[in-house]
Amino acid sequence: MTEPLSEAHLSAGAPGAGAAPPPGCPAHTAVHPDAVPMMGPRFQNDRAQLYRELRREHGPVAPIVLPGDVPGWLVLGYRELHNITNNPALYSRDSALWNMWPEIPADWPLLPMVGKQPSILYTVGERHQRRSALVSDALDSVDPFELRDHAERFADVLIDRFCGRGDADLIGEYAKALPAMVLARLYGFGDTEGAELVPHINALVNGTEGALEGRDRIMNDMKRLLRERQTRPGADVSSAIQEHEYSGEFTFDEIVEDMMVNIIAGHNPTADWIGNTLRLMLTDDRFAVSLSGGRHSVAEAMNEVLWEETPSQNIAGRWATRDTQLGNKRIRQGDLLILSFAAANADPQIRPDQHTFTGGNNAFLSFGHGDHRCPYPAQDIAEGIARTGVEVLLDRLPDVDLSVPPRTLAWRPSPWLRGLESLPVHFTPTTAAGGHG
Ligand code: HEM
Repeated sequence: MTEPLSEAHLSAGAPGAGAAPPPGCPAHTAVHPDAVPMMGPRFQNDRAQLYRELRREHGPVAPIVLPGDVPGWLVLGYRELHNITNNPALYSRDSALWNMWPEIPADWPLLPMVGKQPSILYTVGERHQRRSALVSDALDSVDPFELRDHAERFADVLIDRFCGRGDADLIGEYAKALPAMVLARLYGFGDTEGAELVPHINALVNGTEGALEGRDRIMNDMKRLLRERQTRPGADVSSAIQEHEYSGEFTFDEIVEDMMVNIIAGHNPTADWIGNTLRLMLTDDRFAVSLSGGRHSVAEAMNEVLWEETPSQNIAGRWATRDTQLGNKRIRQGDLLILSFAAANADPQIRPDQHTFTGGNNAFLSFGHGDHRCPYPAQDIAEGIARTGVEVLLDRLPDVDLSVPPRTLAWRPSPWLRGLESLPVHFTPTTAAGGHG
């Protein structure tokens, strides 16, 4: 089971299958005869063309089928996605509304992604607003200068490990470590504790061996840290969340869940943002110049990635609270809608000329939209880590270059998160910097 756990916003909670359908739910929603499987190599290697074909055949909302013959809708249209995320009363984040629960086996592989979990992700209404304020304000307490310092220091620590060799895999040895180390530090873990969490977070999000043990380890460490901060608060996110005026409205376990979302949901897409940006800069002539000089195009490359190769390409999801019409499709109460941020970003209705350089335009939907969008301070933290990570790497290894032909770079086989398996590079070996102090 490699794919299901690799969703960006994988929650820490236990999934809940087999519950009764909501009252009035139409029994057994059938798979649409033209449904497209939400899996397979086209999502990996040919997704822009796939989205174009789906749009041509089905319009802005396409019927899909998930593993186990489970039906759903893939929302491809920018306008439709906007409409859904702006209208939580009709398109809810509450997965308990799903009309397929009676059909879902306890071992359904996507349960970690769409299960009923007690975190901010699936909370709705006024309670979500207060929970969202709690998380947002706690993340907003992060000082941007401190963030940059930690990101520089950990970037140096990681580069020091391979800079003498003259070659590296920038995904496994760099991008997939840096965000977790920085986030762990911001949340209040010590440097060593944070570094020790990295393999567990990656095992969890990749669904590789040790995923469940990894989840237990992160959860236990998080609980211990939060308990410590109850008696000895510090200048960190774990203290800020517990000192917040709304924290008394949520149980200790709910706060643990949200901190788990923040470390897992924070690490994974930020790692892919770094990896996809480095790939773009190493393979696309428009950005090549920055490798040896100007920094301004790091920001441009990062922006381009959010349009063209956004880390959270498809997210599950929203559930219709009543029968409705979306695009040209009849959606039934309790139907699952998968939000295709990647397809919406390429919608010809908003980008008639797909090849126009997106430079600086932030109208992408890559961080979502509406009440459940990625909290603004979280976006700033992701940006700070990713940008520092790319800049420090290019500063330290100015002649870094790909070790393999660009066409051989492989995307991970997931329709959910967009990121590379590996990014092998070579460069002139250098001595360790010993950290930025
Ligand atoms: C490149 C990096 C990131 C991307 C592309 C990204 C993307 C997203 C998206 C698309 C959503 C909306 C999901 C939905 O509408 O259902 C979301 C939600 C969320 N993100 Fe991020 N995210 C990133 C980094 C982060 C970081 C660094 C943190 C924490 C420090 C974070 C914390 C959250 C949380 C807590 C939510 C849930 C909001 C809610 O349901 O109210 N994200 N993110």
